[in-house]
Amino acid sequence: MKVLLTGAGGQLGRHLVAGAPDDVELVTTTRAGGDHPCDLTDLTSLARILKHVRPQVVINAAAWTAVDDAEDHAEAALKLNRDLPAALAGWCQANDAGLVTYSTDYVFSGQPDRSWREDDPVAPESAYGLSKMAGEREVMLSGCRGLVVRTAWVYSALPGNFLSAILGRAASGQDLRVVSDQVGSPTWAGSLAQASWTLVKQVLTGLASPELVHVAGQGAMSWHEFAELAVTRAAERGLIERPVAVEPIRSDQWPQKARRPIWSVLDTSRYRELTGKSLDPVETALDYCLEQWNREIC
Ligand SMILES: NC(=O)c1ccc[n+]([C@@H]2O[C@H](COP(=O)([O-])OP(=O)(O)OC[C@H]3O[C@@H](n4cnc5c(N)ncnc54)[C@H](OP(=O)(O)O)[C@@H]3O)[C@@H](O)[C@H]2O)c1
Repeated sequence: MKVLLTGAGGQLGRHLVAGAPDDVELVTTTRAGGDHPCDLTDLTSLARILKHVRPQVVINAAAWTAVDDAEDHAEAALKLNRDLPAALAGWCQANDAGLVTYSTDYVFSGQPDRSWREDDPVAPESAYGLSKMAGEREVMLSGCRGLVVRTAWVYSALPGNFLSAILGRAASGQDLRVVSDQVGSPTWAGSLAQASWTLVKQVLTGLASPELVHVAGQGAMSWHEFAELAVTRAAERGLIERPVAVEPIRSDQWPQKARRPIWSVLDTSRYRELTGKSLDPVETALDYCLEQWNREIC
C-alpha cells in the first residue's frame, strides 16, 4: 500500500514513520525535506506531488498547531487546518484514495457529565479550534473515504509539548506550577500513530463515507495530575534527579491568549467498535514514552 504522509517531521509524523507497517510504501513530505519537500500552503505544489506519487492513502499529520499564535493569525491557521484537508479530501474523493486527518478536543467547550462523543455539538472557543472545525467539515462534506481522527493533549519526548517542557524544567531542579482546572486525556504520539495505522489497515478500505473517530489516552486527569505523574515516573526511572514540587494553579493564574476547554475527555468507544482494539491507559502510555526518552524517536 502506497501512503503519502504530510507533516512527517512533527511529533505525530515522526511516530507514524517509525511505526509504519512493513507492507507500507511510505512517501513523506515536510516543509523542507522528506521525499517531496513542500510548503503545504502552496496547494498547486501539493497537487503536483499527489499527481506524481498517486498514493492509495494520504495521512495528513501537518497542521497549524500553535494554538495561541492562531488568535493573531487566523487566516494562516485556516490555510493549514481547513484548506489543506479540503484539498486532500477532494483529491482522495476524485482518485478513490483513503484519507486520515486529525482534529482536536478544542472543537468542544463546556462540560457535560461524560466524555465527549463524536456526534456531540461542537462550539470552539479559539481561532485554532475554529480552524480545525472548518477542516473537519470540509472532509465530512467531501464524501471521500476519510477518517477525521479527533485527539487531545498529544505529547512525546520531542521538544515543544507539555511533557517535554515540564520534564525539561524538572531536570534542572525547578519546581512547577501547573493548571489543575482543565481535565483531559493525555495522548502519547506513539499510541496515536499505532492507532492510526490500525485504522488505515482495518477500517479505511471498507469506508463508504467519511467518519469521525476519537483516539486518545484512556483516562481523565488534569494537567496538574499528569505533571505529578510524569515527574514521579521520570524520577523513578532516573530521568530527573528528584521529584520536584508540582503546585496546582487555576487557569486564570496562567494566562494564555487562546481559551482552552475545561473538559477535554474524549469517548473512544467508536474506535473500539471499529477496530476491536482498546487504547492504552494514560499511565501505561506514559511509561512507554519514558522508556524511549533518550532514543532518537520518542
Ligand atoms: N499536539 C497536540 O496536543 C494536539 C492535540 C489535538 C490534536 N492535535 C492534532 O494532531 C495533529 C498532529 O499534531 P502534532 O502534535 O504532531 O503537531 P506538530 O508536532 O506541530 O506537527 C505539525 C507538522 O506540520 C508541519 N507544518 C506546519 N505548517 C506547514 C507548512 N506550511 N508546510 C508544511 N508543513 C507544515 C510542521 O512542520 P514544521 O515543523 O516545519 O513547522 C510539523 O511537522 C495535528 O492535526 C494537530 O492539530 C494535536
